[in-house]
Amino acid sequence: MADLDAAWPRNDYSRVRYDLFHDSDVFEREQDRIFRGPVWSVLGLETEIPNPGDFRVTAVGTTPVVFNRDQSGAVHAFVNRCAHRGAELVREPYGNCKDHTCIYHAWCYTLQGDLIGVPFQRGANGRGGMPPDFDLREHGLQKLRVAVWKGVVFGTFTEATEPLPTYLGPLMIEHIGELVDRPVKILGYQRQRVFANWKLYLENVRDGYHASLLHEFNRTFGLSRLTQISGGHMDDRHRHSLLFQYAGSDDDQAARQAYARDRVQRGEYMTLKDTAIVRYVKEHPHGITTRIISVFPNAVFHQIYNCLGLRTIRPIDPGQFEIVFILFGYEDDDEAMTGHRVNQANMVGPSGLISMEDGEALELVQRATAPDRDAYGMYEMGGTGTIRNLDTRVNEVPIRGFWSYYSELMGIEPAGAVR
Ligand SMILES: [Fe+2]
Repeated sequence: MADLDAAWPRNDYSRVRYDLFHDSDVFEREQDRIFRGPVWSVLGLETEIPNPGDFRVTAVGTTPVVFNRDQSGAVHAFVNRCAHRGAELVREPYGNCKDHTCIYHAWCYTLQGDLIGVPFQRGANGRGGMPPDFDLREHGLQKLRVAVWKGVVFGTFTEATEPLPTYLGPLMIEHIGELVDRPVKILGYQRQRVFANWKLYLENVRDGYHASLLHEFNRTFGLSRLTQISGGHMDDRHRHSLLFQYAGSDDDQAARQAYARDRVQRGEYMTLKDTAIVRYVKEHPHGITTRIISVFPNAVFHQIYNCLGLRTIRPIDPGQFEIVFILFGYEDDDEAMTGHRVNQANMVGPSGLISMEDGEALELVQRATAPDRDAYGMYEMGGTGTIRNLDTRVNEVPIRGFWSYYSELMGIEPAGAVR
């Protein structure tokens, strides 16, 4: 086990030990204290299971989970594992069924996760079978608590988790709420396997600093600029974060000078001939053109112009995780708006114009930090000490916020920890 007492040389999380991205004991503890702990994880969208009997498999951390809709319309979620001998129960990624029957010994469960059938429970020809005191009611699937908010399905493993609205807090409710305030329509899915630790992705989506430096599309056309009105805000406990920016809110000439002065060699941008891919049709009250909203521990909502999506992050082992992107629009979109969103969907996913480099950057970190796990990364952009909201994206403070809440759950906060 890594010596977690020495994880933090500073109490403000401005140094992060590389061990945290590699150690397998840390990874196991995360499953226990975070993913199966007092948090709400996003399971998916209600519209993925519109009809009674519809189901979809997902994961909470490394735990396989299935969620479905029962005959009354209620949504349930349970661990996707037979209560008998532990076989994966639902083997299709999605579908519709009347009940869930395990392929191994045909044990059968209702859409509420209750066990209703055990073949040969009473044996055959008077021999074998379950003992007389065997009670079906004691062997249902392991159920998650479920909360559905504005069509987003959340699940948690523990009764101790606070009510969902309290967990999300006003900032998340306001900004996610704007994105799902109308019935949504799924446009498609993308999946990406990244050979890096899952927390590097949680850092990445709390990092507004890299967007105009790493991403070649933004650099080439001078689109996402740190000179724009933007910021990184968090909830009171710094669990979640909102990165936002307003395109067109800065001066083109001043932006060119700023980037030239800081030796980012893109003083002369090329010009996009067809600007449809970066055009924002105003449809949300704030008029923010890009929002990356990170919900601890496993979800990201994004609005990039009119490209809307929900990403869920599924850790596999310390060195790999998967991102599942759900791209959506609204049920009342006309054909032109759907086409506009699909065109803008080219920006995200494993080959997205402004996200393809993220996976690569994370893998660079994973590889280079592996041999020297007692060394530290440094996080001082936006200042050290107090964790606070800033109206700039030249800022890594939301990452320190993430580590602060992470450490609380993991029980590894340093003495005198900044929260
Ligand atoms: Fe990025």
